[in-house]
Amino acid sequence: MPTETATSEGAHQVSDAIALPIRDVVITARARREDTYPIHVTRTLPQLVRFVRSVTGDARLAIITDETVDELHGRALSDVFDTAGIRHCSFALPPGEPSKSLEQAKRLWDWLTDSGIERRDVIVAFGGSVISDTAGWVASAYMRGIRYINLPTTLLAQVDGAMGGKVAVNHPAAKNLLGAFWQPAGVVSNVAYLSTLDERHVRAGLAESIKKAIIASPEYWRFIDDHAEEILALDLDVLEQLVRSAAAIKTKLVERDPYENDLRRALNFGHTIAHPLETVSGYGEVLHGEAVAFGMLVETRIAANRGLLEEPVLDRLIDLLERVGLLQLRVQVDVDEMIAAMSPVRWIRGGSWRCPLPRRFGVTEIVDDVDDSEVREATIQTLAEGTRRGRGGDRLQEAAVSPGA
Ligand SMILES: NC(=O)c1ccc[n+]([C@@H]2O[C@H](COP(=O)([O-])OP(=O)(O)OC[C@H]3O[C@@H](n4cnc5c(N)ncnc54)[C@H](O)[C@@H]3O)[C@@H](O)[C@H]2O)c1
Repeated sequence: MPTETATSEGAHQVSDAIALPIRDVVITARARREDTYPIHVTRTLPQLVRFVRSVTGDARLAIITDETVDELHGRALSDVFDTAGIRHCSFALPPGEPSKSLEQAKRLWDWLTDSGIERRDVIVAFGGSVISDTAGWVASAYMRGIRYINLPTTLLAQVDGAMGGKVAVNHPAAKNLLGAFWQPAGVVSNVAYLSTLDERHVRAGLAESIKKAIIASPEYWRFIDDHAEEILALDLDVLEQLVRSAAAIKTKLVERDPYENDLRRALNFGHTIAHPLETVSGYGEVLHGEAVAFGMLVETRIAANRGLLEEPVLDRLIDLLERVGLLQLRVQVDVDEMIAAMSPVRWIRGGSWRCPLPRRFGVTEIVDDVDDSEVREATIQTLAEGTRRGRGGDRLQEAAVSPGA
């Protein structure tokens, strides 16, 4: 071990004496890192600033946001930072999924260098998960990685995307293809920001909570089931509980395998179908949470068709998704096109689908032998269920069975 001694001028002297290896020995390189970070949930700006400061100290903040969030909440955030004496600058991307791109990332790196952002400064991702994914990835590469914190402003980001350290931008070949694992230095979720979010995004965000409930927490399922209407009505007490509980569940699940060495993660529930659906419907036409809701329905139906379900998970999922307005898809789905778009998912997941299928609340089984015909059958059944229960679903049904279905 090196020894360090302070010299009279306040500098440090480091003494070391590393032994040389004997001949032919294999040198083992080690680079261990333990990342821990706090996740705060609040509903006021003064508290948000206190939490931010507790993480960033007196560092300068480079706020990355989108134009919508900037217009709605940018000035207020800037004012509280000014009042607290926190130095900051900001850059707003166009809102929406297309901003999760290499081109926008490059604009951000240019802006960071033009603004003189240094290694000890901190990027602040202020927006939905498009912003935390993009800003986090930009942070992971800038100067070989600088700190960033997430101030999520959508429900989806607060219950899921802002935690876990998976950051990425999209590539035409696949969603999230260019990315990294780069953990935030902290997360501060202000549920009051959700008051300006449109209803469709609130519903879509809830899908990621429902996913966690199915795979990991019967108690969270009961909470959502009991409070679904209050969540949609944006009751702040209920939202705080919803977001804090999601953080507790996600961090526990991620902690077991933070860098996804084992690809068989229950957290992927719903996503084997959701990602290809987003690809074929054009990013942004169907919201990520809506695609996850549909994916959960299809994958639970695959479980039901296989006789895996030990509890009426499918019936209860259908009922809950109907109550929160997530049962019917807003886009037409060509089943064959969707199945064809699954090949990048297979490729990224090492050649197979590794589909987490639910057995009962809190219990999943990871299978890797789901084939195209099972997906086709379950997708058509899911679309038919949406048609049966909803209005105007005929178009979906027609699209589902053509061509070649
Ligand atoms: N990294 C992860 O672990 C992870 C997990 C889940 C999803 N994701 C990614 O998240 C993305 C979707 O995230 P999202 O749904 O947050 O999308 P988003 O960031 O595009 O936000 C949705 C829309 O809401 C607007 N908005 C944000 N906050 C608002 C507010 N408080 N009031 C009014 N409008 C507001 C935005 O301007 C945008 O138009 C997808 O790209 C998905 O892949 C990542």
